[in-house]
Amino acid sequence: SAAEKGGYDYFMLKEIAEQPKAVADTLLGRIDATGSLTLDELRLPGSELREIDKVVIVACGTAFHAGMIAKYAIEHWTRMPCETELASEFRYRDPILDSRTLVIAVSQSGETMDTLMALRHAREQGAKVLAICNTNGSTIPRESDAVLYTHAGPEVAVASTKAFLTQLVACYLVALYLGQVRGTKWGDEVRAVIRELSEIGTQVEQVLDTMEPVRELARGLAHKDTVLFLGRHVGYPVALEGALKLKELAYMHAEGFAAGELKHGPIALIEDDVPVVVVVPSPRGRSVLHDKIVSNIQEIRARGARTIVIAERGDEAVREYADHLIEVPPTPTLLQPLVATVPLQVFACELATARGNEVDQPRNLAKSVTVE
Ligand code: G6P
Repeated sequence: SAAEKGGYDYFMLKEIAEQPKAVADTLLGRIDATGSLTLDELRLPGSELREIDKVVIVACGTAFHAGMIAKYAIEHWTRMPCETELASEFRYRDPILDSRTLVIAVSQSGETMDTLMALRHAREQGAKVLAICNTNGSTIPRESDAVLYTHAGPEVAVASTKAFLTQLVACYLVALYLGQVRGTKWGDEVRAVIRELSEIGTQVEQVLDTMEPVRELARGLAHKDTVLFLGRHVGYPVALEGALKLKELAYMHAEGFAAGELKHGPIALIEDDVPVVVVVPSPRGRSVLHDKIVSNIQEIRARGARTIVIAERGDEAVREYADHLIEVPPTPTLLQPLVATVPLQVFACELATARGNEVDQPRNLAKSVTVE
């Protein structure tokens, strides 16, 4: 009913709007007054966490993209090897697991069969399993050794939005916590990022307040056949998520690429007026990455692409190559997905609406897939 949708036309719009609160709720009580993380609720003692020598993340769909981003964060802050794998591929290749492996299963519903089978396999091999889940008491957390709940509240729209942002928050919390408990050479950075993370809801809110041009842009592209997405580093999974949303909702051909791979194939797809969304990392921080992606934008634009650039506010270097510029607030590099994903959700939702599609219930998809 309209009341359930809180005055929005679709649950998806309501859930996109709820993201600042979902993020804040997921952080609540997990950062103490001194700026340290308190994740005692995990009931994984520091002694056990210090024994771990490898992290493996398993998930499906949008949760898999959160897991891909987590890999960058975990490896950077803990210096432990981390792999992220599609749950449906995981157990069939006989993965190397033992009691020193931490497996993280990320799932909104906690009922996805592929993810459940992956975690069962991991536990049979003696690995410890931590669930990141949005649904209290669901199967995946019940069968795991530990759980960190996301507090997105119920997500009704099939395409995941607020659950994704809270999965990211939970992944960052785990990465930072592992760094904190095990000691990391990035101690100062970890403390600074915890501070920035604690206020990230405000930044998400700022993005939501500036989405009208994105909606207008989406309406103008409703007749297109293809949209491509490019990103590097954590912008790469963001590009994949942007493409997935467009497939799910707009039923368009949409593909995400690592920008560095462009020259190894995808650049052949660039032709006149093909829309390409590029996720640009902050020019501060890892500035080499920034320079590389700016040259990628120049390359595709020279070949006729219509460039839609998501960049940090104040990034003047990209302006002249952007046919459409979508600005997001400055964040630490690893946290940028929390703000950069939001315009892509809005973009997909508006494009789907413009094409006359059912936003909350896309064809052929289910909210929770309980078969393998
Ligand atoms: C389905 C949904 C996706 C979701 C995926 C994983 O395919 O349509 O939106 O990302 O399942 O779901 P989970 O509940 O495990 O996060």
